[in-house]
Amino acid sequence: MKWTMWLRRWMRYVLEEGYAAEKNLLKERVSPGADWLDAACGEGELTASFHPGQYWGVDSASQAIHRARSTFPQYGFSTMDITRLPDRPRFDGILLSKVLHHLDDAQARAALEALVAALHPGGRILVIEPLPEPSLSAPLCYLFARLETGHHRRDTGSLADLLPAGTCLQHVGCLHKAAVRLGVWEIVRP
Ligand SMILES: C[S@@+](CC[C@H](N)C(=O)[O-])C[C@H]1O[C@@H](n2cnc3c(N)ncnc32)[C@H](O)[C@@H]1O
Repeated sequence: MKWTMWLRRWMRYVLEEGYAAEKNLLKERVSPGADWLDAACGEGELTASFHPGQYWGVDSASQAIHRARSTFPQYGFSTMDITRLPDRPRFDGILLSKVLHHLDDAQARAALEALVAALHPGGRILVIEPLPEPSLSAPLCYLFARLETGHHRRDTGSLADLLPAGTCLQHVGCLHKAAVRLGVWEIVRP
């Protein structure tokens, strides 16, 4: 792997404070007995927050899935586009963490439609997303946003515009880190 990739990964880990806020949130949300999909799981940054037999991580980047598999051999992973999931309901919960801001509106709509179809009725998608553009008054957040490759940060209103018919969006709260402010939402399948 190129050293620039290592540097980028290390910087992201430091700036995101080891993903501690997301892990604390998942401690409250992940209960034994529930089947979870980690949609666009990356290299498995949040995999350890789930139970191995009740977790499936998917990402379109095969290199990321390769690394996730070697770090967490007891968990299930597949290389897959989240807009092309098998469309039978099988999950109680879906984690969609820091993915939507990498997708334009058409891609995000297709992803949310496929993810909602993969939920049991009453199931929920937990969405974690960086909040819209920080200003220079929060310099570290501003720098992190500049380093980021995702250019589609959204607020509650623009996220709601992407939802499949019949679902509803609830704003759960915010996670504040030195370098990034994250919004947390839930999408519920009735
Ligand atoms: C910033 S990373 C987030 C990783 C992890 N979920 C986290 O919270 O740290 C965004 C991930 O989305 C993946 N991704 C983007 N579009 C995707 C798609 N259509 N299907 C599956 N994965 C996708 C990328 O490969 C990348 O691993």
